[in-house]
Amino acid sequence: MQGPIFTVTNMVPDSAAELLRQAGELRLDPREEAIPRQDLLELVAGADAVLTLLHDRVDEELLEAAGAQLRCVANVAVGYDNIDLEAAARHGVTVTNTPGVLDDATADLTLGLILAATRRLAEGDRLVRSGREWSWGMGFMLGRGLQGKRLGIIGLGGIGRKVAERARAFGMEITYHSRHPAPPEVVEALRAERLPLEQLLATSDVLSLHTPLTEQTRHLIGAAELEAMKPTAVLINAARGPVVDERALAAALAEGQIAAAGLDVYEREPRVEPALLDLDNVVLVPHLGSATVETRTAMAVLAARNAISVLSGQGPLTPVASQ
Ligand code: GLV
Repeated sequence: MQGPIFTVTNMVPDSAAELLRQAGELRLDPREEAIPRQDLLELVAGADAVLTLLHDRVDEELLEAAGAQLRCVANVAVGYDNIDLEAAARHGVTVTNTPGVLDDATADLTLGLILAATRRLAEGDRLVRSGREWSWGMGFMLGRGLQGKRLGIIGLGGIGRKVAERARAFGMEITYHSRHPAPPEVVEALRAERLPLEQLLATSDVLSLHTPLTEQTRHLIGAAELEAMKPTAVLINAARGPVVDERALAAALAEGQIAAAGLDVYEREPRVEPALLDLDNVVLVPHLGSATVETRTAMAVLAARNAISVLSGQGPLTPVASQ
């Protein structure tokens, strides 16, 4: 056996695989779809470091299955709600994520969802494909413009800031809610106003979620919060599905409590609340936030470099926040 064992639970771009091969032995599950739990537990046995995806649950069971030699779990994602950090700490395992490298791609996707939801792009696409008759008319398929409107951002971290920068170029005003105020230079550059949640809900024309999933943010947006929003408002979620109560959202969209929504993530991913599927005023895409060739490569390479750095004793490059 050559050096440490790096186990990767899915396909990774060649550049990341090559880095790992140069540093030790690479064990890789080559399938594109999520690895079944039992296969995952067998795959990680004996690994010194594991590169995981956001749907791989890293808990006591997995850490036990890996064995006492495991030293690093490198999540190929910025979010790490799939990882039990206390269990990892008990096993002496360092956990890393991939902050920064996916901010632009996720912000681009968020703007795509904002435009798709406010300008009814997916609905229009469905209409054209249906073969039904349509014609240009003064009142035909009107959406709402973004200029002069308020974007409310929950979580003004790396991704939230990039969303705000883009939204400013569309002429939007930026307000935000977060536990801590953003640094003064960020606030100044974005001309962003920090508001309590209730005020953000009541004043946002577009409300965009960029907060990690934690026990505090689970169902942060539920029936009461949706009721507090404007009837013309649009909700965007490219963060984590469980931040929104999906059933309550479907009801709010059906009743016209809010105008529209754009979702990249789902509460019980990859399942989607069936009531959403029949609604024309919600745009649904399959967790594509970071899905560009460039970004996925950068994420995999950063995860590989984290794993190599931990095993070589140089410590993690991007440890998760609480480590
Ligand atoms: C994607 O959702 C990520 O957390 O990187």
